[in-house]
Amino acid sequence: MGNDKMNKPAMPDEAPVMEPQRQFYYIERAKELVSERAKKCGHPLTFHVETFGCQMNARDSEKLRGILDTIGFVPVDTENADFVIYNTCTVRENANNKVYGRLGTLSSYKKKNPNMMIALCGCMMQEQHVVEKLRMSYRFVNLVFGTHNIFKFAELIVHAMTSDEMVIDIWDETSQIVEDLPVERKYHFKSGVNIMFGCNNFCSYCIVPYVRGRERSREPKDIIREIEHLVADGVVEVMLLGQNVNSYGKNLDHPITFAQLLREIEKIEGLKRIRFMTSHPKDLSDELIEVMAASDKICKHMHLPLQSGSSRILKEMNRHYDKEQYLLLVDKLRKAIPDIAITTDIIVGFPGETKEDALETLDVVRKVRYDSAFTFIYSKRSGTPAAKMENQVPEDEVKENFDMILKEVQSIACEKAMELEGKILPVLVEQINEQDDTLVTGRLSNNSVVHLNGDASMIGTIVNVELTECKGFYYLGRVPEEVL
Ligand code: SAH
Ligand code: SF4
Ligand code: F3S
Repeated sequence: MGNDKMNKPAMPDEAPVMEPQRQFYYIERAKELVSERAKKCGHPLTFHVETFGCQMNARDSEKLRGILDTIGFVPVDTENADFVIYNTCTVRENANNKVYGRLGTLSSYKKKNPNMMIALCGCMMQEQHVVEKLRMSYRFVNLVFGTHNIFKFAELIVHAMTSDEMVIDIWDETSQIVEDLPVERKYHFKSGVNIMFGCNNFCSYCIVPYVRGRERSREPKDIIREIEHLVADGVVEVMLLGQNVNSYGKNLDHPITFAQLLREIEKIEGLKRIRFMTSHPKDLSDELIEVMAASDKICKHMHLPLQSGSSRILKEMNRHYDKEQYLLLVDKLRKAIPDIAITTDIIVGFPGETKEDALETLDVVRKVRYDSAFTFIYSKRSGTPAAKMENQVPEDEVKENFDMILKEVQSIACEKAMELEGKILPVLVEQINEQDDTLVTGRLSNNSVVHLNGDASMIGTIVNVELTECKGFYYLGRVPEEVL
């Protein structure tokens, strides 16, 4: 267990030591406190969870909602609520700045509602300088915790509700994986499923290994059991989550590969679609390609972050592959699975990156022809090796290369999307269209968005849809008459 630094209020603690029993005990305590406070206020207490960052955080937020819901808070869409929690991200500086900006607004809500509780958790809280800043300048925050002890949320709420001080509980690391706590899913028909936590790769620009800790895989039986329960509860699509799913299972007592795990998950009856992210190119095995090619359920989509097309920069980034190996991998994937969609992440402006390096990235973009790509400007993260590199690239140079790569990425993505126009393909309908309620919105196996005529009864079902028009990054479609 990690380093437990916490301002503990004096209270009798007859709570069980074992998890998750301990948290179920605190859930009961929290229920009493919430109900007492609601009685005093004369209305049910409301909550709002705001998520920044990646799919891992989105899944963690479902766990936060699960607890808040279970202990008697009711969800609201506004941050003017009785309990507001920000689940933060620190992968790039702007993710970080957003949080400070919005805390100002929360403090003005709190002035009008003294009962309001403000909590902060997630990756940003694992950075010491952030917690110091909160402690000094954001005294109105009630609760601060990190990524390793999110399972303790109920316990921490009880402490925060019975304390006048800011409760801070940050662990440096953990080897614990606590299963079976309540979760409140955003969609009833699809769900993220953590298969592993943390990261051991230490790409030189990246803060994630420092804030999420070392790689830990869940036991296959726990993953399978969770997915079986989800399917019994109406889920048809799962997204398996890990920072590098291709190294899943390596450090289990009985090691298994990611491909073997997928084979097991594929067998779950009633499950229709399997997605996963993220795949690190250095660990993508032939076995995985085989399993994907043979599968009816695994979506024909591979998110394969490139980061840079320059072998020199890739070495500096500590990515453990070069341009040629990456291109070979893409060839292999396309040969085995011709209709696979390949998407990527690109960083522009890594220290020492020259025009020639950026042109190498452009060359890979042109050769691979990505279906879509997230293009990021390099952000210096203190504590990472790249932050100490001396040759940081001036902003105007980065901007020029960024614009050049982004333009190419977008025009290729558009051309690729056009190739599917006129085809009839299965779409999982996800929601009523946000702009036009005579339409529904869903996703193809390759993750592209499709809008089509329909109603709420279609949500959560997979329908064959004719892609009548490609609008660049999404499609308009209709259910062909012969299918109706
Ligand atoms: N584990 C995943 C990535 C998680 S972070 C992987 O290895 O692919 C998501 C993306 O954020 C990364 O792929 C990278 O493109 C980007 N990113 C990470 N650190 C960054 C930084 N310091 N500056 C800019 N982008 C960064
Ligand atoms: Fe960051 Fe690299 Fe780990 Fe991805 S694999 S989370 S980019 S260190
Ligand atoms: Fe951000 Fe943490 Fe994800 S830093 S990208 S929320 S793992």
